[in-house]
Amino acid sequence: MKLLKERILQDGKCFEGGILKVDSFINHQMDPTLMKAIAVEFVRRFASERFNKVMTIEASGIAPAIMVGFLLDLPVIFAKKKKPKTMEHMLSARVFSFTKEREYDICLSRDFLTPGDRVLFIDDFLANGNAALGAIELIDQAGAQLAGMGFIIEKAFQQGGGILRDRGIHIESLAMIDSLDNCRIHIRD
Ligand code: G4P
Ligand code: NA
Ligand code: NA
Repeated sequence: MKLLKERILQDGKCFEGGILKVDSFINHQMDPTLMKAIAVEFVRRFASERFNKVMTIEASGIAPAIMVGFLLDLPVIFAKKKKPKTMEHMLSARVFSFTKEREYDICLSRDFLTPGDRVLFIDDFLANGNAALGAIELIDQAGAQLAGMGFIIEKAFQQGGGILRDRGIHIESLAMIDSLDNCRIHIRD
C-alpha cells in the first residue's frame, strides 16, 4: 500500500531494539483519512473471505478495526487488557509481551463472541505474534472461526508472520518492514 509506505518513510521513527514509532499518525495522534484508506485496503484484500464480525485488541487496533466495521456495516469487538469487575462469562487468554517483558491477560465477554461467528481480526502491529495468538485463543474458546488477520504494519524480521502463516491463516499486512537496522527503515516493495 503505497500511501502507507510513503507515510512510514516520511513520519516513522526508528528506535533502539527494532522499534518503529508511528505516533504521529497511528499510535498517538491518528490520521483518519489514512486510516480510512487502510480500511478500504483491508476490505479489498479480505473480499474473498466470509465473516460477520471484526475483532481487535485495545487500544491501537480499535481505530483500524472500527473503520473496517463501518465500511462493511459489521459489529466490532475488542479484547480488553484489564478484566472488568462486572464482566461475566469471560473468555480470557494470557499474552506475553516481548516489548514490555511482562505477561497480561486479554479478555472478552462470551456474549459478543459465540459459536457460529466468523471473525476478521485487525491490529496495528504484527511483531512476535503473541497478541494475535492470544486473540486466536479467545476465538477458539468461544467456538468461533477465524476468517483472516490483517495488520497495518508487519515487522517481517520478527517471528509472528511466520508462525501465523504456518498455521494456514490468511494474513494480510499492508506494510512489511524488512529491517530497522542502523535506524533505517527498510520497507518491502
Ligand atoms: P506481539 O504482540 O506481536 O508479540 O508483540 P509485542 O508483545 O512485542 O508487542 C507489544 C505491543 O507493542 C503491542 O501493542 C504491539 O502492537 C506493539 N509493537 C510491537 N512492535 C512495535 C513497534 O515496532 N512499534 C510500535 N509502535 N508498536 C510495536 P500494545 O502495547 O499491546 O498495545 P496498544 O495499546 O498500542 O494497542
Ligand atoms: Na496493538
Ligand atoms: Na501498539
